[in-house]
Amino acid sequence: MNPATPNQPVLKGPTTDWDNKFCKRCSLMKSSAIREILKLTQQPDVISFAGGLPAPEIFPIKELEQSCSNVLNGAGEEALQYSITEGFLPLRQEIAAKMIRYHVEAEAANIFPTNGSQQALDLIGRVFIDPGDVIVTDSPTYLGALQAFRAYAPRIEALPVDDDGVRIDHLEEVLKKHTVRFMYVLPNFHNPVGVTLSLERRIEMVKVAAKYGVPIIEDDPYRELRFEGEDLPALMTLHKENVVYLSTFSKILAPGLRLGWVLGPQVLISKLVQAKQATDLHTSTLIQMIAHDMMKRGVLAEHSKLIRKVYGERRHVMTDAMEKFFPEGVRWTKPQGGLFLWVTTPETIDTLDLFKEAVKHKVAFVPGVSFFPHGDVHNTMRLNFSNAKPEQITEGIRRLGDTLKEALR
Ligand SMILES: Cc1ncc(COP(=O)(O)O)c(C=O)c1O
Repeated sequence: MNPATPNQPVLKGPTTDWDNKFCKRCSLMKSSAIREILKLTQQPDVISFAGGLPAPEIFPIKELEQSCSNVLNGAGEEALQYSITEGFLPLRQEIAAKMIRYHVEAEAANIFPTNGSQQALDLIGRVFIDPGDVIVTDSPTYLGALQAFRAYAPRIEALPVDDDGVRIDHLEEVLKKHTVRFMYVLPNFHNPVGVTLSLERRIEMVKVAAKYGVPIIEDDPYRELRFEGEDLPALMTLHKENVVYLSTFSKILAPGLRLGWVLGPQVLISKLVQAKQATDLHTSTLIQMIAHDMMKRGVLAEHSKLIRKVYGERRHVMTDAMEKFFPEGVRWTKPQGGLFLWVTTPETIDTLDLFKEAVKHKVAFVPGVSFFPHGDVHNTMRLNFSNAKPEQITEGIRRLGDTLKEALR
């Protein structure tokens, strides 16, 4: 007899009907369309512009190794111990100093490290949204935010995005008509569209939101990835009291670390701390200490320069190739930073269908429909320009151009 098998009969018979055990909220949880698509694009010969992945060949691995060693040799016991939910104070101080350099007033007490910005979005959904509450988002918007918020069953009022960012001509109407819990916006190098919110709209937006007492959630992971043009003030700079600011180390260091932060009023941070306590007790102490060491040594600031250079070049390679290979009638954005650009095709094309054809041509993108809160636009796609190398970008865009030409024929 196998000694690992207990000397008892194993129970056989009716099994649990798992699907009927889940709570109603589970029906609102959906897999990310992007993660599903990424599975299809993982064949080695497919050039993928689908993921939101940084360029892995420039991850600062040696510097991270150095920081790991500094932390483990200097404060290994603290790094490996349970810790407070509020986060590692020296890291919060470094982040506050960084925010101040960006003209955002900040103190360590108002900075809350999370497991990536994605966790911050979930915690925000958790503390703000009761089923049926109204929130405002841009449309299209970051899919991960939709995924996080939808689990709490809000009604979404969606504002369209144009070349100057989210349009706010109907904002006041929406805020007057509904009791809005919060407004979620992506001011810099919008994911998925790549555009940046103009200064005029920033000023008007904070004014209108303040008039109706609606907090703005400013999700800003790409601010430091500007390779062209001038920085614009954060919404938080324009109205500190009414804005909650989110950012992350994912794009300036490495997403696998899972480290982001929230900057907000004390009363909100305390609520988020309670919500996070129930989720995971605290963000990894080791990772917080490593990120702190990287910041303190000035490595992160240097590394951001390299990222901007590499991504700037790749964006140019991509848009130059589009000029050359894309058929007439197809339009695209030209972001001054970030990771993504946005393509709009003639309305006769449904990019979900085009995606299947593109994969046959060994190139992939994300069909735009899933980024729209109401799933109502079918002729757009998101392309990532940070991950593929320049020669792959040119070849991938050539393949996508051929796919588009065939679809338009
Ligand atoms: C706009 C936006 N917010 C949040 C996130 C999540 O970032 P993190 O890796 O910090 O969870 C992303 C990731 O792509 C993003 O684009």
